[in-house]
Amino acid sequence: MSWDIKDISRQIQEDLNNIKDSSGLENFRVKYLGRKGMISQMLSNLSDLSAEERPKAGRLANELKQKVSFLINEKKAELTQEHDTKKVEVLDFGLPGISQEIGHEHPVSRVINQVCEIFVKLGFKIVEGPEIETEFNNFTALNIPPDHPSRDGFDTFYLKQSTRPVDKKLLLRSHTSPVQIRVMKKYAPPLAVVVPGRVYRPDAVDASHSFMFHQIEGFLVDKQVRFSELKGVLVHFAKELFGKDIQMRFRPHFFPFTEPSAEVDISCIMCKNKKATDQRCSVCGGKSWLEILGAGMIHPHVFEAVGYPKGKYTGFAFGMGIERIAMLKYGINDIRLFFENDLRFLRQF
Ligand code: PHE
Repeated sequence: MSWDIKDISRQIQEDLNNIKDSSGLENFRVKYLGRKGMISQMLSNLSDLSAEERPKAGRLANELKQKVSFLINEKKAELTQEHDTKKVEVLDFGLPGISQEIGHEHPVSRVINQVCEIFVKLGFKIVEGPEIETEFNNFTALNIPPDHPSRDGFDTFYLKQSTRPVDKKLLLRSHTSPVQIRVMKKYAPPLAVVVPGRVYRPDAVDASHSFMFHQIEGFLVDKQVRFSELKGVLVHFAKELFGKDIQMRFRPHFFPFTEPSAEVDISCIMCKNKKATDQRCSVCGGKSWLEILGAGMIHPHVFEAVGYPKGKYTGFAFGMGIERIAMLKYGINDIRLFFENDLRFLRQF
């Protein structure tokens, strides 16, 4: 037999050792396994051999073929591993990563969500209403008389098309109370609703005024609802939002749409109402109380305006300014910060 298997094996091993990359490996494969490669050649030369030699030589050629295929696969694995290792070497895990900035709630949204959640747990439903309202819903149905100063153009933004009759005139709602009217017109009691939303007043902008801000209105209507229930709900709310130690006081007040009415204060969250004479408290200025909302028992004229049967229902309502609560809660001293969208401010929440 003319093949020197030892010689061929040595040659294969030598070629294999010289392979440096995948193209070298491909050349190797072609040299031995290709159509015109060494092993194909050996197989096609079998016919030249004697009948005696042929089977043995055939077996050898086939064994060689298998071995070379195996070596090729092994080399291939080795080369990819080397390639991957090289790639890892150029990665510097000590470098700072590319940080992904995660968006988060605006402080106003956060307080709206916190407040709504407290009332939702008590069984209140969240309802929203339009920011463009009729004069009827914003004023008349809420028992606000035609000559009330809040109807003045200095206190309310009217839309330009003002040739409409008084009650149909359109305006930017100046409070969330008109949503009381919308809900009561549509649904019969029992009702327990909270209404978050934007309101508009033509105030000159300064540290505590803005022409647009947010309110949350709440109201509950049923048979025989009492002032004590209003009190219970609001005390619970203040303790949930500001902490268990908070105290609350109701001062008699006047709103056209509630009777009796009250302005509601909480004990100062900074000086905790302990030093009533401490002029230095930056939050309450030494007053030791902070006004946080208006409230009262819904006026019978309001029930009349929405068509509820006379004397059948009673209810309470309250309304609070969200920015004011957020300012107290987070120690913010300028309302304009909420609307300027300065990321250095917003990132703190
Ligand atoms: N609508 C009142 C305001 O904007 C707040 C309020 C709501 C008061 C409900 C009493 C009852 O000032």
